[in-house]
Amino acid sequence: MAHDFRLLVKNASQVVLICSSGEKFLTKEGMEKLVIIENGSVVIGRDGLIAAVGPADAIELQFRGASFDKVLDAAGMCIIPGLVDAHTHPVWDGDRVHEFSMKLAGATYMDVHRAGGGIHFTVEHTRRASAERLTSGLMGRLRRMLRAGTTLAECKSGYGLDARAELKMLRVIEDVRRALPMGVSATYCGAHAVPRGKSMAEATRDVVDVQLPLLQKKMSSGEIHVDNIDVFCEEGVFDLDSTRTILQAGKRMGLNINFHGDELHPMNAAQLGAELGALAISHLEEVTDEGIAAMATARTAAVLLPTTAYILRLKSPRARDMLEGGVIVALGSDFNPNAYCCSMPIVMHMACVNMKMTLNEALAAATINAAYTLGLSHTHGSLEPGKQGDLLIISAPRWEHLIYQLGGHGELIQYVIIKGSVV
Ligand code: NIG
Ligand code: FE
Repeated sequence: MAHDFRLLVKNASQVVLICSSGEKFLTKEGMEKLVIIENGSVVIGRDGLIAAVGPADAIELQFRGASFDKVLDAAGMCIIPGLVDAHTHPVWDGDRVHEFSMKLAGATYMDVHRAGGGIHFTVEHTRRASAERLTSGLMGRLRRMLRAGTTLAECKSGYGLDARAELKMLRVIEDVRRALPMGVSATYCGAHAVPRGKSMAEATRDVVDVQLPLLQKKMSSGEIHVDNIDVFCEEGVFDLDSTRTILQAGKRMGLNINFHGDELHPMNAAQLGAELGALAISHLEEVTDEGIAAMATARTAAVLLPTTAYILRLKSPRARDMLEGGVIVALGSDFNPNAYCCSMPIVMHMACVNMKMTLNEALAAATINAAYTLGLSHTHGSLEPGKQGDLLIISAPRWEHLIYQLGGHGELIQYVIIKGSVV
């Protein structure tokens, strides 16, 4: 017999709602004052949406007599929203463990790239890989993210760099999206590098005149769904004009603009993103004061990627300047063969220690603000009635343990729940 509701999680020491007034994003003041209920409960309906969240005694009274598919007693534990990873490259074949030692010995990211390694190495292997092989690799990586508490992840293509291989990657993302409970926001990143043997102008024309029209066809037939468009705007990759041309073409197709900018050199990518109405720009280690101001005004979010800055020994992204300047700050793992980290709890820890974010800011950046960068903060990123029932139950009396215990998320995350079901 079907019960009235799917799930009751009761008596948690803390329920971290993040916000409670339908905010679509938080800037510094809101991030500092997360909404937390001490001794609370959450109810998720048969539709997988949050039916109620509140003090445990009030929920008990309100739902007296109701039946639930599952009841979890979270005494001594905490509930937080499922984590959102705003930036990942999880579809590829050919790891780059050999390059790790080169970089430790002093080679820069661009030294390796120019020598034909880096993205080019992964492209070579990904083009050759079968869809089945890419699918099983992606499944494994997303499952690993899920175990680390990520319930919604942005997933990019970008190791194909031609129509056939890019569409193969997007098809793999689509298949996995349909097969796994985890939320996936798909990003077309055909302009992730200039393919060997092509000029930047040729690569730009290929993206705009060949790849995007083919993608449009696949999207119209319902074969593939893509949400966002991305470009690696960087010296020696795509310059500002090519980036503009590609992003505008994607925007005309209805894709959200969400791209890599101002990472290794100041490119004025932040200003370009603000001008084009980008939802988000990632990296931004080299953003200028003008770029920060433009992003704050345009409500273009900054996706900061502490693992990449750490591995490449770059200067840390200017999180404090962005927060003080009113920018919407989000976090991502940047999981890719260069930055091999699937764990948002580790990313939050690094954001706090290396980028001087507070614990509350880091959690808001990895939930509501990360959801905003994907255009999904009306359904994800906080525990509010009507939103999707995605949450984590953490076996600690205060939620901050998830960040404090570096690398301890495996033991701390007792349950990952998506749409009210334990996964
Ligand atoms: O976000 N910067 C460009 N793209 C990725 C790296 C991809 C790769 O090296 O394979 C990033 O760090
Ligand atoms: Fe990236």
